Amino acid sequence: MEIIIQPDADAASLAGAAVIDALIRRKPAAVLGLATGSTPLTLYRELIRRHREEGLDFSRVTTFNLDEYLGLAPAHPASYHFYMRENFFHQVNLSAARAHLPDGLAADVPAACRRYEEQIAAAGGIDLQVLGIGADGHIGFNEPSSSLASRTRVKTLTMETLRDNARHFTDPGEQPRHVITMGVGTIMDARTVLLFAFGPAKARAVAAAVEGPVTASVPASALQLHPRAVLFLDQAAAGDLRRREYYRWVHENKPDWQRF
Ligand code: GLP
Repeated sequence: MEIIIQPDADAASLAGAAVIDALIRRKPAAVLGLATGSTPLTLYRELIRRHREEGLDFSRVTTFNLDEYLGLAPAHPASYHFYMRENFFHQVNLSAARAHLPDGLAADVPAACRRYEEQIAAAGGIDLQVLGIGADGHIGFNEPSSSLASRTRVKTLTMETLRDNARHFTDPGEQPRHVITMGVGTIMDARTVLLFAFGPAKARAVAAAVEGPVTASVPASALQLHPRAVLFLDQAAAGDLRRREYYRWVHENKPDWQRF
């Protein structure tokens, strides 16, 4: 794992955007895995800026989002379809046909999950997956106890996640308890993983994921087994890392040839 601790969330987001920019310029038909939540908002804003001002071209890019609520229509303001349209898709030149999210309204959910995996494989696999992290250590919506080999499927949210995400629902009765999410195994197949975590509420989960044992109790800890997982943290999210001075030292002393 590579741990990059930045002065603040904006600096971490900009550094992550530069990695994605470099990938797309090197490989214009790149396949991106995308995340929702408050964490990647600045990352998306910076990618939009680079599109508008620096010619970053998404016309051949394909995207697959991590997850979607079961039972929410794409027009629902708390759906991840809605979030992606508002915060990213509509502001870059990404083809709608190449922007994928799990179908929260699928009539046959297991078949839709299998098809999602097939679509990812048919696109050649995910080059770079963007991740946030839940306060309980989840990635995507892979809650604690998720199999580390899991593929896209339905999950039941924990009470903690329901509480954390309740702010997105004006009517609490509309908040689904079930979601479709890529599995931990799906995420682990991505060739590069960038995980972003900001703020003190994420410090415990980050420390468990980076310095704790690899365990299904902290799904993000599976990234310890990933050959190219990079964590972009602000000071607060790095606050519980015992070896944070070492991670800073590594970053400062990184040979030029090893930099992104
Ligand atoms: C949700 C999403 C995750 C996200 C997490 C953290 O549960 N499914 O992909 O990483 O929330 O959200 P936030 O970035 O808002 O803290």
